[in-house]
Amino acid sequence: MADKTPLLKVEHLCKEFPAESGTFGGRFAKRFVSAVNDVSFEIYPGETFGLVGESGCGKSTTGRTIMHLTSPTSGKVYFQGRDISEMSKKELKEMRRDMQFIFQDPYASLNPRMTIGEIVSEPMTIHGIGTKEERIERVRELLQVVGLNPEHINRYPHEFSGGQRQRVGIARAFILRPKLIICDEPVSALDVSIQAQVLNLLKELQDKYGTAYLFIAHDLSVVQHISDRVAVMYLGKMVELSDWKTLYTEPHHPYTQSLLSAVPVPDPDIQKTRKRIILAGDPPSPIDPPSGCRFHTRCPMAQDICSKEIPGFDEVASGHYCACHFAKPFPIKESHINL
Ligand SMILES: Nc1ncnc2c1ncn2[C@@H]1O[C@H](COP(=O)(O)OP(=O)(O)O)[C@@H](O)[C@H]1O
Ligand code: SF4
Ligand SMILES: [Mg+2]
Repeated sequence: MADKTPLLKVEHLCKEFPAESGTFGGRFAKRFVSAVNDVSFEIYPGETFGLVGESGCGKSTTGRTIMHLTSPTSGKVYFQGRDISEMSKKELKEMRRDMQFIFQDPYASLNPRMTIGEIVSEPMTIHGIGTKEERIERVRELLQVVGLNPEHINRYPHEFSGGQRQRVGIARAFILRPKLIICDEPVSALDVSIQAQVLNLLKELQDKYGTAYLFIAHDLSVVQHISDRVAVMYLGKMVELSDWKTLYTEPHHPYTQSLLSAVPVPDPDIQKTRKRIILAGDPPSPIDPPSGCRFHTRCPMAQDICSKEIPGFDEVASGHYCACHFAKPFPIKESHINL
């Protein structure tokens, strides 16, 4: 992968939101939600980059900031080598032809007053592409590709099931043949029985069009079948990143290992004997997050240094990064995971 130029490069991305201010120790203080903090990664053409972490850890904010739907507090995003913060409105619009979004909730994300045809063709309309006939033709083709009946082009979203609606969202995301699609938990709102079908469709479309995905999910089981590389986030920070196989077989970060321990394995004997790592408590608030390593309040491996010094996001093996003062394979004993 090193010989390829990245399609997307995210450098030291930080995003803070204003939170309710208050008085602390007698002094008035402004407070911030530290939603994304010092996150860096690259996505290469045609690859699937999985981004995983518990709800509230900053995955959607990362995706939205990359699309420039919200601007970063600091840090840079480069798309095809261009700094998006320096793009004019027109250039940003052009960039969005090549970068699309698939949303988590296929009920909330489709305008109920628009027909399927209007929804799917909207990106063409926005960018002034094609005549009306050409748009209709393209929509019919895309509906077919995503497994929907082209004859249903004039129907409305409420006439479709959740899985079918997500197929509409997928057709819309693909209509301009973008280079990158940010898939923000695209199957988590769907029935488990439908999830695999939608994942398979995304994989097929990627093979057909060579699209890269930033694939966001809240658990590792979803991304394992689809990702080339996987990154794990905790409370706004990226804690581990590597190719998926290494991440699943040799996790170096205690948090990754705890997430992995919750992924069911097909072999019932392994499943029975496998140690489940349950972390104490809930993730702390991203307002005034814990000092040093943000995971130290829940980490079974924490030492004194962990609350004092922020661990660097260091390369522990080629292409494998981990943010832990004590990074090593299987940091938590007796929980080897067989895949
Ligand atoms: N517009 C916003 N204003 C204030 N806080 C926000 C906003 N968007 C997200 N947050 C906060 O930022 C943190 C990360 O949120 P989000 O990126 O949605 O996480 P995830 O997608 O991983 O569930 C959360 O604490 C969330 O409450
Ligand atoms: S730096 Fe310390 S607290 Fe953080 S993950 Fe490593 S051992 Fe745990
Ligand atoms: Mg989210």
